[in-house]
Amino acid sequence: MTPKLKNPELLRTKPFINGEWVESKSTKTFDVIDPATEEGIATISDQTPEEIDEAIQITKIAFDSYKNTPVADRSRWLRNWYNLMLENLDDLATLVTWENGKCFTDAIGEIRYAASYFEWFSEEAKRNYGHTIQPANHNNKIITYKQPVGPVGLLCPFNFPAAMGARKAAPALAAGCTCIMKPDAQTPLTALAMAYLAEKAGFPKGVFNVVLSSVESTPACGLKFCESPLIKKVSFTGSTPVGKLLMKQSSSTLKKLSMELGGNAPILVFDDAKLDQAVEQSIASKFRSLGQTCVCANRIYVQAGVYDEFCKRFAEKVKGFKIGNGFDEGVTHGCLINARAIDKVEEHVRDAVGKGAKVIVEGGRLTHLGKHFYAPYVIGNVSPEMKCSVEETFGPLAAIAKFENQQEVLQQCNDTAFGLAAYVFSENLNTVWQVSEQLETGMVSVNSGMFTDAALPFGGVKESGFGREGSLYGMDDYTVVKSISLGNVYGSS
Ligand code: SIN
Repeated sequence: MTPKLKNPELLRTKPFINGEWVESKSTKTFDVIDPATEEGIATISDQTPEEIDEAIQITKIAFDSYKNTPVADRSRWLRNWYNLMLENLDDLATLVTWENGKCFTDAIGEIRYAASYFEWFSEEAKRNYGHTIQPANHNNKIITYKQPVGPVGLLCPFNFPAAMGARKAAPALAAGCTCIMKPDAQTPLTALAMAYLAEKAGFPKGVFNVVLSSVESTPACGLKFCESPLIKKVSFTGSTPVGKLLMKQSSSTLKKLSMELGGNAPILVFDDAKLDQAVEQSIASKFRSLGQTCVCANRIYVQAGVYDEFCKRFAEKVKGFKIGNGFDEGVTHGCLINARAIDKVEEHVRDAVGKGAKVIVEGGRLTHLGKHFYAPYVIGNVSPEMKCSVEETFGPLAAIAKFENQQEVLQQCNDTAFGLAAYVFSENLNTVWQVSEQLETGMVSVNSGMFTDAALPFGGVKESGFGREGSLYGMDDYTVVKSISLGNVYGSS
């Protein structure tokens, strides 16, 4: 059955540039597919490189006036956007489930989460403070303030079609930057619906633009963003190899960058943890969006004293999942985004089992539901040389390993190029503190599997990237510090 929107106006299929839904001149198109039914939802024009250039120009022209808009206006427009997201909650969540495959309750959660970035930055917009500074060696007065960096290019992923775009656009617009956003080719419809609401929220023409590229044309679009001297900053959420490529491509313009890249998040469950809480929260972290988030647990380390019991309780809960079409009643987990996602899970399971992992819950393809449905695997006796310990699976495979002591587990946790999130379960404050400090990650969640929030500085270290999204730091990534040194304040004597 085709999902219905209460407001059909929200289903948009054209690029949104300079406040208009523009007709692309491109002869090429691509289809947005419902990953659950494999049916087409929309056919979209694959914009030409020239059209991307024109959209960049528009974003630049809009910046020249938007940068001078009163903060009160920007704050109000963001607040309006927040309100409109919530007024259209069901429709936006419908679009998320339809194009992404996650279950509807998760999609509702995502829209609320996305909207909260608009609310948060409608308030932060007013708090873009600078300093007054006493000079060290002369009598001038030094004043700093933060200026918007300029027009920004936002490259967004498929896993949170609303929230990742909101997390980038909200601070950018609060700071006075204009945006050109490219949503993932698999999930552009939510971003277009949000653009429709941005216009209703009151943002002037050209301030928030959405361009559309197929999977094949995405590298060319990314290259345009990176090489354009008009775009002053690129913010990217996606894989580490693509992040590295974008960084190289941005070197010719020395562009400011934010990179929210791959993770390999460990969970550490110590003997003294509250076991039911650790099991429930580990499941929440591991299987959120069926493992398709950068902060999903990729490795679960459980201390020897509770290992067997943890595995038993974890397996029982996983067996209770109801996998199905995200719109169906009672479904706890939807489908994966595409066939490649399933291939990767299978490759990791094969590799791990071949190297001695024990299958605790046998998962596998659910072809009767469709080709993107997959029942989760839970495996134990996982060891460091297995692919699932080294690479992000980004899918429904829970890989559990046993550890004896803190030193050993920390060494294994940090033995990776990635450093986005980690989770610690323990009732001992010393353990929690020592481990949190020593984990080489940008974020540590203690006794909870769900920690992200508009107020939390989100970001990684090592090859998980740099920059912080959300929080009191979120606008910094979209501003530059201007220092003004005032001489002769009292006139010359
Ligand atoms: C991500 O997967 O990068 C985002 C997860 C979140 O914000 O909760």
